[in-house]
Amino acid sequence: MRVLDTLTSVGRGQRMGLFAGSGVGKSSLLSMIARGTDAQVSVIALVGERGREVREFLEDDLGAEGLARSIVVVSTSDEPAMMRLRAAFVATRIAESFRDQGADVMLMMDSLTRVAMAQREIGLSVGEPPATRGYPPSTFSLLARLLERAGTDQSGSITGIYTVLVDGDDHNEPIADAARSILDGHVVLDRRLAVQGHFPSVDALASISRVASRVNTPEQNRLAGTLRKVLAARRNAQDLLDVGAYKAGTNPLVDAAVDNEAAINEFLQQRMDDQTSAPLAWDQLTRLTRLFGGI
Ligand SMILES: Nc1ncnc2c1ncn2[C@@H]1O[C@H](COP(=O)(O)OP(=O)(O)O)[C@@H](O)[C@H]1O
Ligand SMILES: [Mg+2]
Repeated sequence: MRVLDTLTSVGRGQRMGLFAGSGVGKSSLLSMIARGTDAQVSVIALVGERGREVREFLEDDLGAEGLARSIVVVSTSDEPAMMRLRAAFVATRIAESFRDQGADVMLMMDSLTRVAMAQREIGLSVGEPPATRGYPPSTFSLLARLLERAGTDQSGSITGIYTVLVDGDDHNEPIADAARSILDGHVVLDRRLAVQGHFPSVDALASISRVASRVNTPEQNRLAGTLRKVLAARRNAQDLLDVGAYKAGTNPLVDAAVDNEAAINEFLQQRMDDQTSAPLAWDQLTRLTRLFGGI
């Protein structure tokens, strides 16, 4: 959440994708957002998950606190494709009705890929030709239609967060590709971070929000830019660091990353029960970047 608030800041009415393979932490991150948001209304659509996953999400991740302030629309994997598809549109319609009344609404959908799969089933069964990886063309027009309904209008806003399953961690599969082109930003979760126990497993350098620089102040942009530069320098130097060939003092950015590794990870990692407000996250980032010295 801290990393989302600061490095990929989301504006009201923005539509973001959460991209990851299975078990990398998409649903957990969604539940943290649902519990932490100060949006007036949250609508959560759970589409195509198994019943057990839904129960875990509702009881363990979202909990009583999250559930009290959310409307949840569920269609599990054992229901007909038509029901799963309807669930996505019904949740969007509910969000729209609150927006019409002037509310700022958070709409979360887990997962957009399962919505696309439901449309694939329907499209193929009525004789549409399969195109990219078996998805008929109607899948892509449907995604565009669904996602376009979030956003801001005269009365209020719907901020949309959609999870996208990237099968086999292949970030170029057709649904991920289509979603990326329609959405206004994406957060990438990385399995390598998850297996190291680095949660939320957000790959900050691969994640972008197209409106971050406009919703943040110049000072905030500078802070976020500094941390990104340090993370990028570390990634570029990782091979050298691994074999012990990096000489301290060669690059001040890499030095900052290495010297402050623990503090950086403490900032980037967040337990599921740890709620940090956005202003506090910025304070913590300010303190972190001070440790880097004059860069
Ligand atoms: N912030 C976190 N802190 C600790 N563990 C986490 C966190 N986020 C996810 N996890 C771990 O990752 C597992 C899988 O997460 P989940 O959200 O179900 O993945 P996905 O929805 O991508 O399949 C969780 O059961 C949990 O153990
Ligand atoms: Mg999940």
